[in-house]
Parts: sequence; structure tokens; C-alpha cells
Amino acid sequence: MEILKTVSEMQAWSDNIHQKQNQICLVPTMGYFHEGHLSLMEKGKEFCPDLVVSLFVNPTQFGENEDLDSYPANIERDVKLAEKKGVSVVFMPDKKEIYPDGFQTYVELTKLPGHLCGLSRPVHFRGVATVVTKLFNIVKPDVAIFGSKDFQQLQIIRRMVKDLNYNIKIVGCPIVREDDGLAMSSRNAYLSPEQRQIALCLSKSLEKAEDMILNGEKITSTVKKELASYIKSFSFTEIDYISICDPETLDEIGDGDINTADPLLIAMAVYVGRTRLIDNRIINPVQ
Ligand code: PAJ
Repeated sequence: MEILKTVSEMQAWSDNIHQKQNQICLVPTMGYFHEGHLSLMEKGKEFCPDLVVSLFVNPTQFGENEDLDSYPANIERDVKLAEKKGVSVVFMPDKKEIYPDGFQTYVELTKLPGHLCGLSRPVHFRGVATVVTKLFNIVKPDVAIFGSKDFQQLQIIRRMVKDLNYNIKIVGCPIVREDDGLAMSSRNAYLSPEQRQIALCLSKSLEKAEDMILNGEKITSTVKKELASYIKSFSFTEIDYISICDPETLDEIGDGDINTADPLLIAMAVYVGRTRLIDNRIINPVQ
């Protein structure tokens, strides 16, 4: 496995692979790997043997009061785990390599970021779209793999690839969870043991919502109220949002507007202490 740190080394490696008529798969990450990240690498290997994992804590997707400076890291461990998964290259640029002095070009979507996490993280998706565009231009992948844990991010990347005519296949992977249901996240490392237990209220409330809807509840505000009061019954919690929406457009589904022919997305962000956690579930309402 190679560790490449510069844009020119990475581009040269990719050009060489393409010259041999082979395809490249990219898994973009910010490191501190858990089973969720590793599942994306496994999926990537199913597509092509030449798998690149990028490891870059992208400053432009963090707001001013967010956790950029404390974002967890363990590069040595990450490199070992990537090697075990059969990764060909870990691309690990430093900040200046990606954002040199004078940098001023951003990629921004007009609608999808105006929902869910984008409402409380106004610069986040501009940063994600920009860095992923740059990674696409640097690594030149044929396939790129993303997790549906960050469902809005996945939809934004899909839209961006269409809108900008990238010839890259975007593959979405299921959420990997701990045995008790908590969605794996690098940020779970911030939770105290007590908060770690409380954090289960996200996955539990998604199950509750699914039960309600599968039992015929059509009033989305009733489902949201029920989930909110359940989550608020735990100490340390503060709800950022609970949304029941169209998985494509992310537009909220109004009371009585559940169409049993279409899947819907239930998504939420909840602070447990100072840690912001997200989770989601796609539900197919019964006919
Ligand atoms: P990061 O949070 O490190 O996540 C990297 C990838 O792992 C993303 O596609 C994310 O959806 C996926 N992932 C995280 N937790 C997961 C889980 N429990 N199950 C399945 N997949 C999971 O997302 C980012 O980094 C950044 O925004 C990035 C795309 C790298 C741009 O900077």
C-alpha cells in the first residue's frame, strides 16, 4: 500500500492505472476509522482492485464553533486498517495542498443544502461539495463510495455528479451500527459512558417512527411530536431537527401527504451533551 501526500503524485498514480485500462474506486473519509468506513472499503474492493482511500479532515466543511480542532485522529491505526482491507493508496494531503494560499473557488448546490443538517450548518455542504469535487479531480475515480449514514451528503454528491457531468458511479452503502443500534460515527468517541447509553434514543426513535407509520399513521406531525417527546425524556439531549421527508428532494412531507407508493426518509440530528449525532432510516409505508 502506498501513502501519497501530494496532488501531483496522486494524479500521476491514477493516470498510470487508467493507462493500463484499469478502473479506480475512491472512498473519501476524514479518518478515525470505524466499521462504517471499513464497510465502504470492502464495497469498493467489489468494484475494482485499485482502491484509493482519502484521509483529510476538511476545514471548509466545519463551521466556526464546530469541532475541527478536536476532531479525533489516529493516523497510524487508520493506515494499518486500510492496509488490512487491501487498499492500494491512502491519499493524505495536508491542508495547504488542498487549499493553497489564494484559494477562492467553491462548489455550491442551490436547493438540497436548504434542508436537514444544512439549516444549522450553513457552510457545511459547500465545504463537502468543494472538497469532493477536488478529490474527484485529483484521484479521477470511476466509482466513489459513500455511506447513507450521511444521507443528505450522499444525495448532494449524487446531484452534483449529475449536474457537473462527472462520469463517476456513486455507490451508497447501508448504515453500520453497533450491536445495540447506535449508528457508528467517529464522533461517538466524544460521548461519556452515560451519554453513550442516552445516544441510543436516536435509533430507538427511528424504530418507533417506523412502527407508527407501518401501523398506518399518516399525520407526520404526530410522528414527529411523539419522537420529540421521547428524545426529550432523556437528560443531556437537545433536538436540532426531526424530519420526515422525500428521500430525493428532502422536502418535508406534510400531514396526510404520505404516499404509500413512495419511500420516505426519517432523519434527525440530536445533541447529546455537546456532541451532535445524526441518524436516519428509509421507510416504505404500507399500501
Ligand atoms: P467521514 O465522516 O469520515 O465519513 C466518511 C464516509 O463514511 C462517508 O461516506 C460516511 O457516510 C461514511 N460513514 C460514516 N459512518 C458510517 C456508518 N456508520 N455506516 C456507513 N457509512 C458510514 O463524510 C465525511 O467523512 C466527509 O464529509 C467527506 C465525504 C470525506 C468529505 O470531507
